[in-house]
Amino acid sequence: MDFGDNFERGLKLILDSIAEAQAGGARAPLSAAAMKRELDGLALLRGRPAFYPYLGSGLGRGARVMLADGRWMLDFALGIGVHFFGHGNLDLIETAIRAAASDLTMQGNLIFNREYRALMKTLLDHAPRGIDQCWLSLSGADANENALKLARQNRDGRPGIIAFEHCFHGRTSAMAEITDRPDYRFGQPSTFPVYRIPFFNRDDPDSAKKSLDALVQVIRSHGDEIAAFIVELVQGEAGFITAPREFFVPLFEQCHKQRIIVWADEVQTFARTGELFATDWLQLADYVEMITIGKVLQGSALLYRKSLAPDPGLISGTFSGATVAMAVGRRIIEKLCDENFFGPEGREKQLEQMTRAHLARLGDAHPGAISHVDGTGAMLAFRVGSGTLEATRAYIRRCFDAGLALYYGGHDPACVRLFLPAGCLSEDELSDAFTILGECLSE
Ligand SMILES: Cc1ncc(COP(=O)(O)O)c(C=O)c1O
Repeated sequence: MDFGDNFERGLKLILDSIAEAQAGGARAPLSAAAMKRELDGLALLRGRPAFYPYLGSGLGRGARVMLADGRWMLDFALGIGVHFFGHGNLDLIETAIRAAASDLTMQGNLIFNREYRALMKTLLDHAPRGIDQCWLSLSGADANENALKLARQNRDGRPGIIAFEHCFHGRTSAMAEITDRPDYRFGQPSTFPVYRIPFFNRDDPDSAKKSLDALVQVIRSHGDEIAAFIVELVQGEAGFITAPREFFVPLFEQCHKQRIIVWADEVQTFARTGELFATDWLQLADYVEMITIGKVLQGSALLYRKSLAPDPGLISGTFSGATVAMAVGRRIIEKLCDENFFGPEGREKQLEQMTRAHLARLGDAHPGAISHVDGTGAMLAFRVGSGTLEATRAYIRRCFDAGLALYYGGHDPACVRLFLPAGCLSEDELSDAFTILGECLSE
């Protein structure tokens, strides 16, 4: 929407003021004691303290964020992989302000503005070959719920799902049933069959065969009741565990023979593997029939082949996204695709190489202290010591106190996950992060 010259002048003033604040002209909104009071109050409201004593001030500058008490930190947690362009990106802020000035805060599936179609079009323009329809939603789990319904409807109401061991697919009732974490569904009934097969294990030369044998066995015993095979092409919450293309292909071929829909849950991998879609990174477009995405998108979407189109009424909902989130999500995809992030020579792969080199040096400086480096692109992980959950959490807490926010993945063994803010990360900031990682290993 064009709001005229005054709007443009005002917007320029606002953006200049933000840039000035980012350059050091802003004071923290709270004292350390006031910030602690806010966090204590929050813990009372939600009945559980925050994982970290983190309260953002609203000011950030690329990979660094200023907390409400004025401390600056490096952020490699990124809201669990959401903020690809880090904090305070002026291009995204400008996009957000323009969208925020429009008449609707939220858009829905009945009444929408132009951002709704524009986002879908941009997504499908860049989607893997053969994927030509899209449905927007809010969280990654929402998109997965829509995918589940679509798959079941297409397969005549078959209820069952095949998934990988250690998978994570979200927190709604159905997704908690598929997710391989019994502690996340304690006290919940099981309402449909979920069959889990082992994921790739690079330490086991027979791993691919074991997974294929397990899949064949499940299909032989229960094939008629299974609608879809849900797959994280890089396991996210399990700790950025990768597998080669050759691992997936025979599994997907088996599913196709049985009319079991192959569904890539790319909520966490979206924009992080060195390509926009992990499906394309692994050249699996011929096999994957539905893709769900979220996080970096600032909302979520189900992308699918037209042949799977649901009956009207199967998927909808009041909200398709906040106007700001839809506009910013679309701008993020444009920036990702236009600013040389992807491909073998792209920024993500360069950062991966630099990060791997840092990890190798860290390992040399602290023999035996780190191992099991895995992941790809802007999602890399490593194990600290023997990887007990307690020690890993203690380590990332030390890093937080020293000025680096990180998150862990997996569960005994656990690992440290580095969500790289690849949209803004400089080599100096990467080095600063590794200085902290090293100092906290020494402690
Ligand atoms: C692979 C995967 N699927 C689904 C989800 C759920 O997304 P959300 O938390 O946005 O509902 C996640 C979240 O971490 C995820 O990693």
